[in-house]
Amino acid sequence: MSIFSSTSASRRADLVEQARKGFVERFGHEPEAVGVAPGRVELLGNHTDYNEGFVLTAALDRGIAIAGASREVPEARVTTLGRGDTATFDPQNPRRDPQALWSDYVKGIVDQFNKIGANIGGFDAAIASDISPGAGVSSSAALLVSTAQLLLNLHPHPLAGDPMALAKLARRAENEFVGAPVGLLDQFSSVFGREGHALFLDCRTLAWRSVTLPASQARILIADSGVKHALAAGGGYSERKAECDAAALWFAEREPDKNIRTLRDVTPAMLEAYAGDLDPVLEKRARHIVYENKRVEMGAEALESGNVAAFGEMMSLTHESCMRFFENSCDEVDTLALTAIAHPGVYGAKLSGGGWGGCTAIVHHPDATESLCAALTETFTAKFGREPSLLPTSAAQGAESFRFA
Ligand code: GLA
Repeated sequence: MSIFSSTSASRRADLVEQARKGFVERFGHEPEAVGVAPGRVELLGNHTDYNEGFVLTAALDRGIAIAGASREVPEARVTTLGRGDTATFDPQNPRRDPQALWSDYVKGIVDQFNKIGANIGGFDAAIASDISPGAGVSSSAALLVSTAQLLLNLHPHPLAGDPMALAKLARRAENEFVGAPVGLLDQFSSVFGREGHALFLDCRTLAWRSVTLPASQARILIADSGVKHALAAGGGYSERKAECDAAALWFAEREPDKNIRTLRDVTPAMLEAYAGDLDPVLEKRARHIVYENKRVEMGAEALESGNVAAFGEMMSLTHESCMRFFENSCDEVDTLALTAIAHPGVYGAKLSGGGWGGCTAIVHHPDATESLCAALTETFTAKFGREPSLLPTSAAQGAESFRFA
């Protein structure tokens, strides 16, 4: 399918054109190909992915385009159009930048390609983006996946025909090269996105299905708190992951017959039966994950039966659980979510992504967009002395690549 055939296509076409032009300006000739990949919004399933649970996600109509061409010399030069930074490296031996730069995501993909024997020679590339890093819409996954798409176009490999393997490779790049212990949510969303649809993924079996988001009834607004979050090892994200693993182990020791590997295997009944016995912090973390998996299943079913209100309620319950049990929100995100939840025409709102900043995902009736934006701006500005950045968006197609004529 051509990237110019969908409603969010004109935005994507602009991004591709920016990358192409930027490439020509920087390298003095036309690029051969482009990879383009969207960011994502996590609708339900907060921190469930690495617990082998369920997620409900959508790809956004914004993302990253990376235009490129092969080189004779075995050297890669990758430039970002926004900041004009260039990273130059040996594709046979990419090394992590000590300052943990954006280029680590590009190098991480090259490193994974080397590991699967896809021989990446020299290349030049230019990156255009219409999502800001740290905003909680996974610009990182968009960069990983668009780079993979570009390189597969420049160096054909069977991976191109296996989108789940591609998503998994992009996750490994983030885990192993960048050093962020993330799950599959972001990369999966960026690869599999479908216009007008959410995607339900079982992160253990990797079975997935798409679920209609009825645009006449429900719109997505992303409200960015402006508080930057990071997922790197050592931060709150890896601490939560370790707590979830510790809680799963605690249950596994108590219930040796139940074959508990992760919190995916702990049922609400089990959790309640042991409530008060395990460490109170671990119990809170487990409570969030165990019930979050239920909320994802119920929310997806509600959407499938056309009940957007019931789906939205699950989102708001998730946010409450983030605040009370997972403790991965912050004042700015809470202000956006709670203001939205109280606003007429809003079905539900929640923190989207890792937490401790980033953005709030709000699902609302199309008629409410304007008044909702005004209410969010007013409340947030009164409290924090600056405006939140608000992004009305819609569920879009996943990643693709093509060759320039
Ligand atoms: C980040 C990670 C994802 C996921 C979410 C929380 O976006 O990259 O893998 O864990 O946080 O649901």
